[in-house]
Amino acid sequence: MKELLLFLSCVLCVSADGEFVSVNSTLHEDIGISGCSDSDGENMYGLDGEEKWYADFNKKEEIYPQPPFVVNPFHYQEGTYEGAVANQQVCKQNLKVDMQAYKNPPLQRDAPSGVMIYTRDEVEFGEKNYLICYVTGFYPAPVNVSWTKNKEKVTQGSSINVPYINKDGTFTQISRLQFTPQQGDIYSCAVQHLALTQPETRLYDVEVHFSLCVGPSVFCGVGLTLGLLGVAAGTFFLIKGNECS
Ligand SMILES: *[C@@H]1O[C@H](CO)[C@@H](O)[C@H](O)[C@H]1NC(C)=O
Ligand SMILES: *[C@@H]1O[C@H](CO)[C@@H](O)[C@H](O)[C@H]1NC(C)=O
Repeated sequence: MKELLLFLSCVLCVSADGEFVSVNSTLHEDIGISGCSDSDGENMYGLDGEEKWYADFNKKEEIYPQPPFVVNPFHYQEGTYEGAVANQQVCKQNLKVDMQAYKNPPLQRDAPSGVMIYTRDEVEFGEKNYLICYVTGFYPAPVNVSWTKNKEKVTQGSSINVPYINKDGTFTQISRLQFTPQQGDIYSCAVQHLALTQPETRLYDVEVHFSLCVGPSVFCGVGLTLGLLGVAAGTFFLIKGNECS
């Protein structure tokens, strides 16, 4: 009976570790965003929540953020970046006209409704990984995200997506920090937004997450081994018992 219980607890343990993957092939969403403010601008194309292409107006170039292992990398036609620059001129001009026509309406401000910090991959000590700071539900775009490691500002290894528009008109932005999990390290991401009087901060304690996420499968391994030993011993005595009788 003991063996059975150990096995059962292991099966439960494994299934609780899984990820939720939802695939819906009937509804894909292709998106194009062109927007501007007095100080900022964006032009991007996306598919199903991922960036396909955007114009980096600071570096004055187009960016394809897909990882290089994408099977069929595709390219927009030449001049797409130049088109984006021209769009910005049009957008800023329209904005000026609108502001006059609507007599400078008050700016709507929504602070982020969600800020989450998590790792891209399962945590393994000494294995390169990414910390993700996911910020959503804010208006207007953008947010600033800054990172610390053990309370010291991190200046390298981070990047941030251009704002992605949500169905309700608010925005989402995702900042990534490359890191190598080491015992005892504590990271934070701090989010600044127009509607926040002070930054919204989330902490990531490597140790806590290691014991939360990886711990159960370690126990599971121990449980499985014990369970298998138990079955082996049980079978041995069963055969022995049969031989004796
Ligand atoms: C997939 O999308 C269709 C169309 O919107 C929807 O009716 C259906 O419920 C979705 N299926 C799943 C499994 O999400
Ligand atoms: C984000 O950072 C830039 C540059 O430091 C600054 O000008 C801007 O005011 C910041 N935005 C917010 C919302 O704090």
